[in-house]
Amino acid sequence: MEKFIIHGGRKLSGDIKVNGAKNSALKVLAASLLTDQEWKISNVPQIEDIFHLIELLKSLGVEVENGSKGIYQLKAKNIKATSLKLNIAQKLKGSILIIGPLLARCGETFFPQSGGCVIGQRPRDIFLSGFEAFGAKIKESKQGYCLTTRGLKGTKFVFPLVSVTATETMILTAILAKGKTVLKNAACEPEIVSLVDFLNKCGAKIKGAGTPFIEIEGVSFLKGGQHQVMPDRIEAGSFIILGAAANSPIKVTGLNPDHLDVLWFLLDKAGVDLEIGKDFVKVKPGFKLKAVNLKTHEYPGFPTDLQAPFTVLMTQAKGISLIHETIFEGRLFYTDSLNQMGANIILCDPHRAIVHGPSKLFGRRLISPDIRAGIALVIAALIAKGESVIENVIQIDRGYEKIEDRLSKIGAGIKRI
Ligand code: EPZ
Repeated sequence: MEKFIIHGGRKLSGDIKVNGAKNSALKVLAASLLTDQEWKISNVPQIEDIFHLIELLKSLGVEVENGSKGIYQLKAKNIKATSLKLNIAQKLKGSILIIGPLLARCGETFFPQSGGCVIGQRPRDIFLSGFEAFGAKIKESKQGYCLTTRGLKGTKFVFPLVSVTATETMILTAILAKGKTVLKNAACEPEIVSLVDFLNKCGAKIKGAGTPFIEIEGVSFLKGGQHQVMPDRIEAGSFIILGAAANSPIKVTGLNPDHLDVLWFLLDKAGVDLEIGKDFVKVKPGFKLKAVNLKTHEYPGFPTDLQAPFTVLMTQAKGISLIHETIFEGRLFYTDSLNQMGANIILCDPHRAIVHGPSKLFGRRLISPDIRAGIALVIAALIAKGESVIENVIQIDRGYEKIEDRLSKIGAGIKRI
C-alpha cells in the first residue's frame, strides 16, 4: 500500500492551481448515458473516482475516448448492460447517479445494497422513493433493487432532507420523463447549477437549479455538446486552509471565490488575512489565529467536505471551538488521530467535537480514513514537528490529483513511497 512520508514545520509559499471538481465531473460524465450523441468533457480531474466511473460507463457500453489529459469524449449509443456492479457501488457512492438515466433509456436497471462507508450509513431511501414517484416498479432482494418502468412520468417530489446526489439523480431521471416534474427541498450546490447549465445547452428544459425548487419539462432526447468542468471548491478550500494553518503565503488560483463565502467569513473571524481576487485567493501571513465555532450545512452553508481541514486549523487557534458536523454521522472520528499528534479535541458525540487550542502537533504514523479526513491529516502532518507517515493514501488519491507533486512545488516536505 502506498504511503506519504511528510516532514512538517516547513514554511510554504507559491501558487497552487485548482483542478476540475470531482463532485461535478462525476455527475456530468454519468449524465452522458442520457443521450446517444457525443459529449466532449474537459478539465476532468485525473483521480481514482473518475477512473472507476469511466470503467463503469464502459462496462455499460458507453464508448469513451480518453483524449489528452482530462478530456473525455463519450457516446452512449448502444447501452448493453443496465446493472450497477456491487464492487463499484461500494467504492463509488456517487455511482447511483447512473440509475436514473438507465431507467429512462432502457426501462430497467439494478443497483446493489452497497451499505455505508467510513463517513456514514449513506442510506438510499430517498432515491428509492424518488424512482417510485416517477412510476418505476421496485423489486427488493438481499442483493439489491431491481427497477423497471414502461415509461417514466413527470412527478412532484419533495426531498425529506436535502441530498446532493439524490437531487442530481432525480434531475437526470426527470429529463426524459413524460411531462413536468417539480422537485422541492432540492440541494443548491454550485455543482448542480453547473450540471444543469450544460444539460440545458444540450436541450433539457430545467429551471430553478441552485434553489430548493426545480422544475423540469420532459424532452424526448438530448443533443451532443461540450463542457468544461467547473473548478473544485473543496480542493481550493483545502489548500487555503493549509496556507492559513502553516501561516504561509500560498496563492490558490483558478477558483471561483463566490463558491466559498462562508469559508472566507469564518477565516476572517478566525483572524486569517486573505486577499480575495476574481479567480484567486492568497493567504497573507503574520496573523494570530482565534478559535471560532463551525457548523456544517448544505450549500450555501459551510461544506461538510471542508470540516476536517478546518478542524485541523482550529487546533492552532487560541481558544475553544465547537465543531458541529450536521450532515454525516461518521465524519469526526479522525479527531482521534489529531489527538495522537498532540491536539486537544473532545469528541462529544458523532456530530460534535470541542477543540481547545493552540496545541503543538508532532509527527505520527497515521491512516487516512476517507478523502477529506485524509487531506486533513496531510495538513496536520505538514504543520507538525517531525516526520509523519500517512498510510492508505489511495483514499486521498480519490479526491486530490497528484497531491504530493503539487504540494512539493509550494515547499512541502512530502513524498510518496
Ligand atoms: C455528496 O454526497 C458528495 N459526493 C459528498 O462528497 C458530500 O460530502 C455530500 O454530497 C454533502 O455535501 C458527491 O457529490 C459524489 P447527501 P451525497 O446525499 O450526495 C442523507 C466527498 O468527499 N441521505 O447530500 O451522498 C445522508 O446520509 C464526498 O467528495 C439519506 O438519509 O450526500 C446524509 O446524512 C463525501 N438518504 C445527508 O442525506 C438518502 O437516500 C446528506 O447526504 C440520501 C442521503
